[in-house]
Amino acid sequence: MNKERKVAKKKGKEKEEKVKQEKASPKPEESKKEAAPQQEPKGEFIPIYFMGKKYMVPATVTIMKAIEYAGYRFIRGCGCRGGICGACGTVYRLPGSYKINVGLACQTVIEPDMYLTQIPFFPANKARYDIDEEKADISTILDKYPEIARCVSCNTCTKACPQDLEVMDYVQAALQGNIERAAKLSFECIMCGLCASRCPAEIVQYNIGILCRRLYSKHMMKKAQHLSDRLKEIDEGKFDGDMEKMKKMGTEELEKAYAERDIEPV
Ligand code: SF4
Ligand code: SF4
Ligand code: FES
Repeated sequence: MNKERKVAKKKGKEKEEKVKQEKASPKPEESKKEAAPQQEPKGEFIPIYFMGKKYMVPATVTIMKAIEYAGYRFIRGCGCRGGICGACGTVYRLPGSYKINVGLACQTVIEPDMYLTQIPFFPANKARYDIDEEKADISTILDKYPEIARCVSCNTCTKACPQDLEVMDYVQAALQGNIERAAKLSFECIMCGLCASRCPAEIVQYNIGILCRRLYSKHMMKKAQHLSDRLKEIDEGKFDGDMEKMKKMGTEELEKAYAERDIEPV
């Protein structure tokens, strides 16, 4: 089994465990104002500190559920709840340690006396470009993100990554003009911003990663023939009749058609 698959398998097991733990624990209130009266959850409660204020919350839940249990309602800082969208970056400190830890609120289980806050948005340098006009080489990387040359190879970004990506390696690959390697190493980035929040050189790793993936897919990868064929069929109006039919369907009919659609065998 290669390294990526091992990491994916390990993450899958960890997520399964967390889901089991959360199913076994009481559900938090959606919001103090709107929630219907609920039974007081049973089981152990532990203290956490959210933005400096102490709350007693069920012991086995994730940070996200604990924040909701404390009465907050997410408007930002929460998306998929499954470790995919990168919206719930969180920083925390544990008692007796000087270390700042990072994690995804929807994936990290709380610990007693955890001090935490979320950083759902991180102000990041983001270059604008027309990918059709850019060359897939080092000149584009240095032009769009010259600060990449400030990387001191401290590996802090790698340690911060909740996806266990080799972040420093993809930054170094980009700096060496190895666009393909940078694109492949950063492929599973969820743009959570935690790496950038910790970088002493103020590099925005995830924006460099996505630039490399765009350059790689636009200029280096072999074109997918089946995709070109399908685009041609669409342009020639092969599906216009079906589209018109769908536009006239009601919700139920649409749901039925969706459930009965042709699915490519796995
Ligand atoms: S944290 Fe910043 S300086 Fe350190 S290795 Fe990563 S990109 Fe380089
Ligand atoms: S590379 Fe950075 S932005 Fe991407 S998942 Fe890892 S920590 Fe988040
Ligand atoms: S809510 Fe999407 S990663 Fe946490």
